[in-house]
Amino acid sequence: MEERAGARRRSRSPPMALLLLLLLSACSSAASGAPVLGEDYVRPPPAPRRCGVHRKALLSLFPWSKKKASSSASDPQQVHISLAGAKHMRVTFITDDNSVPSVVDYGTEAGTYTSTSQGESTSYSYLMYSSGKIHHVVIGPLNDNTVYYYQCGGHGPEFQFKTPPSQFPLSLAVVGDLGQTSWTTSTLNHIKQCEHDMLLLPGDLSYADYMQHLWDSFGTLVEPLASTRPWMVTEGNHEKENILFFKSGFQSYNARWKMPYEESGSTSNLYYSFEVAGVHAIMLGSYTDYDESSDQYAWLKADLAKIDRKRTPWVIILLHAPWYNSNWAHQGEGDSMMAAMEPLLYAAHVDIVIAGHVHAYERAKRVYKGGIDPCGAVHITIGDGGNREGLAHRYRNPKPTWSVFREASFGHGELKIVNATHAHWTWHRNDDEEPVRTDDAWINSLAGSGCIQDGSHEYRKILMSP
Ligand SMILES: *[C@@H]1O[C@H](CO)[C@@H](O)[C@H](O)[C@H]1NC(C)=O
Ligand SMILES: [Fe+2]
Repeated sequence: MEERAGARRRSRSPPMALLLLLLLSACSSAASGAPVLGEDYVRPPPAPRRCGVHRKALLSLFPWSKKKASSSASDPQQVHISLAGAKHMRVTFITDDNSVPSVVDYGTEAGTYTSTSQGESTSYSYLMYSSGKIHHVVIGPLNDNTVYYYQCGGHGPEFQFKTPPSQFPLSLAVVGDLGQTSWTTSTLNHIKQCEHDMLLLPGDLSYADYMQHLWDSFGTLVEPLASTRPWMVTEGNHEKENILFFKSGFQSYNARWKMPYEESGSTSNLYYSFEVAGVHAIMLGSYTDYDESSDQYAWLKADLAKIDRKRTPWVIILLHAPWYNSNWAHQGEGDSMMAAMEPLLYAAHVDIVIAGHVHAYERAKRVYKGGIDPCGAVHITIGDGGNREGLAHRYRNPKPTWSVFREASFGHGELKIVNATHAHWTWHRNDDEEPVRTDDAWINSLAGSGCIQDGSHEYRKILMSP
């Protein structure tokens, strides 16, 4: 099911019965949203306020309260940014007015733009829906750890973002299966209270599920966060939106959430990699081909083989359908991808694999081939961003030995990479104050471990084979 460039276009409408069926199948049985504490859960004492100190200063960086003075068809909407190769940022925005140029003016002083970049634009139609003009403008080179002010399309309100640092520490906010409910709002409110350099999203963004205007409302909902820090996303099943014989998948996702795939040597927006500070991050596609003969497999192998652990001691992977999951929801759905790709990840000593899809939180020990392995990756499932389908409450028992912590509550994660060897992972439940960390673990990079120094490692051969 490789994505096809340039969706097939036909003027006739699809059989309505088929469409209805697809819509129905997209809406799974509604689960209740009430949080259920995992059986392993012990409420910890309140943690010290970690984010409180910088909170005021941080909030002043975000233009939350800034209301757009006026909103016209030429005003930029749904602004979000993403890394576009070293020292560059892709600014994405949408205008109703087709005559608005794809330009971004920017500079390091508010209201003073010293640079201008010209970009590209696209648009798409989907059944009765026609999108606005979707602009993608790459700007740079940019300085690290610097606040930039920018304006989209030559006029309208000013936005601002901060570029990530070039060195540790690096703070990553992590959220999966976000959707656009009041639970989502709660999650986003928690995230914005905590200092972060970038946000990572392992799939299932808008839950538009064929209703294209919901992509627009999602873009508007996340703009306050996504216009201020890069959002690096990969696709989930809800991004597919394919209609048999009529629409190939990922049309809206690819048009709106263009990620740096070309910059990372990939030929598909469905998988790519990027580097930030000392982290090599790989965003994989659970819903495109991944077997040994696939383009994604070949690209992943080449990408892993290129990693220089001295430059990027941390290797992190995000994908949608989890490989280690002890919730009954979506049990086994990641198995075939794991069978194909886990040996590559093991050979490359990947540190952390973050997945979504299951609407609950779970953290596993370092694992490989279904069991605990000190040279395997730490697996985290964090599909509890707040989508309309609710939480996944039922767990397999007894709990697998590799599972450390599991709980069905809405929340988000924070990965603070302290230095080349130590990272601090925390999971924050929406029911608590943001500074409260419900799950908490120090993770040591495999870069400094005996796993890599062992030159006789036979799996290493996999990466080097033609
Ligand atoms: C990395 O950070 C950890 C945790 O703060 C600390 O114990 C360790 O000494 C640091 N390592 C280096 C080389 O600074
Ligand atoms: Fe999903």
